[in-house]
Amino acid sequence: MKMAFSFRGCTISKVGVIGSGQIGPDIALHFVKVLHPYDVQVVVVDVAEEALGKGKAKLFKKVDKGGETGAFKPHEVEGMKSHVTFTSDYNQLKGADLVVEAATEDLPLKRRIFKQVEELVTPHAILTSNSSHLEPERIFEELAHKGRALCTHYFFPAERNPALEIIAGKDTEPKTTEFMMRFYEVLGKIPIRVGSRYGYAVDPVFEGLLLACVQCVDAGLGDTKQVDAVASKCLGLTVGPFTAHNLTGGNPITAHGLSEMNERLNPWFRVPERLQKMLDANSNWEVPARGETVEVPPDKEKAITEELQGAYFAIVCDMLDSKIITTSDFDLLISVALDMKQPFSFMNSLGVGKSLELVEAFAKKYPAMPVSKALRERAASGKPWEILDVLFEKKGDVGIITIRRPKALNALNSKVFMEMEAYVEIIKNDPEIKAAVITGYGNKAFVAGADIKEMAGLTNPAEGEAFARKGQIASAKFEQVGKPVVAAMNGLSLGGGCELAMCCTARVAPKGMSFFVGQPEVNLGLIPGMGGTQRLPRLVGFEKAAEMIRTAKPISTAQALAYGLINEEVEGDVLERAIELARELASGKTTVKRMESGPLSNVPDKLPDLDIGHLSRAIDKLAVRAILEGAKMTVEDGLKNEAKRFGDCWSTEDNRIGLKNFVEKGARSKAPFVHR
Ligand code: CAA
Repeated sequence: MKMAFSFRGCTISKVGVIGSGQIGPDIALHFVKVLHPYDVQVVVVDVAEEALGKGKAKLFKKVDKGGETGAFKPHEVEGMKSHVTFTSDYNQLKGADLVVEAATEDLPLKRRIFKQVEELVTPHAILTSNSSHLEPERIFEELAHKGRALCTHYFFPAERNPALEIIAGKDTEPKTTEFMMRFYEVLGKIPIRVGSRYGYAVDPVFEGLLLACVQCVDAGLGDTKQVDAVASKCLGLTVGPFTAHNLTGGNPITAHGLSEMNERLNPWFRVPERLQKMLDANSNWEVPARGETVEVPPDKEKAITEELQGAYFAIVCDMLDSKIITTSDFDLLISVALDMKQPFSFMNSLGVGKSLELVEAFAKKYPAMPVSKALRERAASGKPWEILDVLFEKKGDVGIITIRRPKALNALNSKVFMEMEAYVEIIKNDPEIKAAVITGYGNKAFVAGADIKEMAGLTNPAEGEAFARKGQIASAKFEQVGKPVVAAMNGLSLGGGCELAMCCTARVAPKGMSFFVGQPEVNLGLIPGMGGTQRLPRLVGFEKAAEMIRTAKPISTAQALAYGLINEEVEGDVLERAIELARELASGKTTVKRMESGPLSNVPDKLPDLDIGHLSRAIDKLAVRAILEGAKMTVEDGLKNEAKRFGDCWSTEDNRIGLKNFVEKGARSKAPFVHR
C-alpha cells in the first residue's frame, strides 16, 4: 500500500468532509473508494451524533452492497471501512490536506465552519464548499487565506455522479483551481469550471424548469401530472421536474434559490404561489405513477413543449451572456449532472433560428425574462452553436490537445478528426509553440478506438475506406506538424487510440496498467484502419504486431515498454510528464528513434500460423494482407492499401455481425462469426 496520494507536488494524506447529512457521506464514499489504496484517511465531522450514526450506516451499507454485487473485492470493502471515520470532534481535521464542507446551504453557518476549520489546518490545505448556489467570494469572505478556497458542487448521487461544478472566487489562486480540476479528473470525476455567479450553471436550469412547469399549470395548459409527463418527454428527462422535486425533497431549496435568483440573476425567477402553498402544506406534487401513461391533448402538449423549451433555452443562453460557462462545457455538464438533452446540441437540432423564436415567444409572455444577446447573434450568423469534443490549451510553449468524449471513452469520430486537424494547424503555425501533447480526458481511457457506433452506420466498402482515410489523414498530421508531439496515453488505448499515439514522436503511459493497449478490431469484424497494420510492425516488429492485430489481445504498460511501443511508464501525472518530455524533445535534451517510413526489408512471404480461436477467418485474411502488402510499400502507400482492406471488411458478413453485436450488446459479448 502507498503511504499518501502525491500528485503534482502536492501530498494528500487526510481528507475532511464536514456534514453527515444528505450528501456528505456520499462525498466521503467517493474519496474513500478512490483514495484508500493510498492509505488516505477520510474524516467526516458533524456536530449531531444522530446524523453521524445515520451517515456512517448509509456509507457502510453502500460499501457492503458493492461487496455483495462484486463491484468491490473483499479487501476493498475492508480497506474502505477502515479508512473512514465519523466524529463530532473537529480536532480530528488537524493535518487534513483537503476539507470539503457539505453542510446546509446557510451562509452564516458555512462562514462559521470555515473560520473554525482554518484554525485547525495548515495554510496550504485546500478548502472547498459543496454549495449549490453561494458565490465563493461570500462564503470565504472572512478567511485569512482565501487563495486556497473554492466551491465544488457535487450532484446526486455524489459517489457515482461524475459531474462537478468547480467555482473559483476572485481571490482563489489559479494554481489551486488548476490543481483541483486535474485532481478530480484523475479521481474519475468530470469537473467543469463555472464562473462565480449565484446558482452557478446547473441550479438555475433545475430550479427554473420547475418554475416554468408551474407557469404552464397556472396558464391552464395542463395539470401537474400532464406538465410533468410532457416535460420529461420534450426535454429528454428520466423523470419530470415535479417528480424530481418529490424524489429529492427539493421544494424548500428550490424556493430559496428562486427567490435569491430573482434579485441576483433576473426578475423572471420568483417563488410561484403554487410552490409556496406546497411548502406551507409540506406536501408533494401530484405526479404520474411509475409507468403511468398520461393523456395530454395534442394542442396542449404542443403549447407546453414550446413553453418549456423556450424557458430552457432562455435560461442557458443567459449564462452565455454572463460568460460563466462555454457551450461545450454546458452541454457536457447538463448531460452528466442532470441526464437531460444537451441544451446547445438540442438547439442545433431544432435550428438556432427556431430556438430564438421559442425564446422570444417565451419572453413575450413573461417579459421579465431577457432574450440573450449571444442567442440573437448566433441566430443572425446562421451558424449552429459550436460544441467541441476536442479542447486546446496553450501552456507556455506547449500546445495541449485533449479529446473529451467521456461517455464514449474518447472514441474518435469524424467530428473529432476535424477538430484535431484544426488544432494541428494552430500548433504548426504558432511560432510560440515548440512542441505539443495529445491526451484523452478522464482517468479511464486515452482513446478507446474509432467510434464503433459511427462505423456501424457505414453500409459499403467505399464508405468504410473513406472513413479509414479520414482517420489516417487526421492522425498523420501529427507526424507532419514539424514539431515534437508526445501522446500522454492516460488510460486505455485501443484500436484507433493506439494508432493515433503511434503517429506521435513519443508515448508515455501510467505505470502498472495490466490492460492498456491493443488492436482489438478483429473482435468487431474489422481490421485496423488508421495505420495499425503499417506502423505497429515498424515499431514493435512483425511477430508481435501480427499477434496483437490477429488475436485482438491487449498488452500491459510493462509489455508496451518492453516492445518499444511506449517510451516511458510514469508514476504520477502522465500529462505533466508528457509536457516535460515534449519540451525536452523540442530542446534536443532528449531524442527518440524515428519510425521507418519506407518499405521494410526482410518481409516474410507469410505470417506464422496463429490460433485465432473464435475469430473470423475472412477478416484475418484481410488483416494479414494489409500487413504483408503494406510492409513492401512506403507507409504512405501502405496506409492507402490498408484503407482499401478496411473497406473490404464491409463485403463480409462477419463485419455486419461484429459491429451490430457491439452496438446492441456492448463490448463484453463475443460475436458468433460465420467465417470460422
Ligand atoms: N466507439 C464508440 N463507443 C465506445 C467505444 C468506441 N470505440 N468504446 C467504448 N465506447 C462506449 C461504450 O459503448 C459505452 O457507451 P454506452 O454507455 O452508451 O453503452 C461507453 O463507451 C463505456 O464503455 P463500456 O461500458 O464498454 O466500458 P467498459 O469499462 O465495460 O469497457 C472497453 C471498456 C473495454 C474499452 C470497451 O468499451 C470496449 O471494448 N470498447 C471498444 C474498444 C474497441 O474495440 N476499439 C477499437 C475500435 S475499431 C477501430 O479503432 C478501427 C480503426 O482502427 C479505425
